[in-house]
Amino acid sequence: MIIAAMPKSKSTKFALLPEKLPKILAFANQKGGAGKSTGAVHAADWFTQNGRSTILIDADGQQSSSGWLKDLGLPYKVISDPEILFDELPLLAEFYDVVIVDGPGNASEVTKAILIRSNLVLIPCRDSMIDLASTGKIVQFVRQAKEIRGGLPIAALYLNAVKDNTILLREATEALQSSIIPLLNTTIPDRQCVKDAPGQGSTVFRMKGEAAKAVAYAYTKILTEALKLFESES
Ligand SMILES: Nc1ncnc2c1ncn2[C@@H]1O[C@H](COP(=O)(O)OP(=O)(O)O)[C@@H](O)[C@H]1O
Ligand SMILES: [Mg+2]
Repeated sequence: MIIAAMPKSKSTKFALLPEKLPKILAFANQKGGAGKSTGAVHAADWFTQNGRSTILIDADGQQSSSGWLKDLGLPYKVISDPEILFDELPLLAEFYDVVIVDGPGNASEVTKAILIRSNLVLIPCRDSMIDLASTGKIVQFVRQAKEIRGGLPIAALYLNAVKDNTILLREATEALQSSIIPLLNTTIPDRQCVKDAPGQGSTVFRMKGEAAKAVAYAYTKILTEALKLFESES
């Protein structure tokens, strides 16, 4: 007797992913060192490991994420010209499940092109007062893009590299909660393994140890939370 094999259920294997995904997902913040490249590379690895085809667009002149993607063996392209970004992002979105854009650390035409073409924008922010004070600029850019596009991009802030046992977190959370852009509940902890990841050509999803596991869990949680927000708002 032949027993039919159980069909591999997409919903069990990739239970985390909602049906509706943003075709173009950007990490933006004109502040350097916020965690855009780290977030974008981890998102690219996460989507790939969850069975979705992904390309990372390195739109930063510094090209930090493209070298990292090369080491990871994942697809990437460097595009730092705003007009080329504007034209190419939708074309790339036809060939990949998710196009991830790593934005530059300045409030430039490149950032504007990214906001005009993205469906979901994640804004990493550190919990220092200097970083918090500078989020006004990117929030203003996002608001203007939303006005032009009638609601898109869906955007969310998140706190990155949060130190343990600090009262800054509460203050930062309160400051960001007053923004017109929602603050995700999940935060990414400050861990040495995250700093080590590019040098090792790895991500926390591929690294061993408790700290890497904890950050991997936080990235999974934050991406899941962001995708749910996108699904409910778009
Ligand atoms: N969660 C984290 N814990 C520890 N270090 C982090 C974390 N996120 C980012 N970093 C480090 O902070 C620095 C800036 O991060 P990066 O992603 O390059 O920022 P951006 O692309 O916004 O300039 C890098 O050295 C990176 O390794
Ligand atoms: Mg960067």
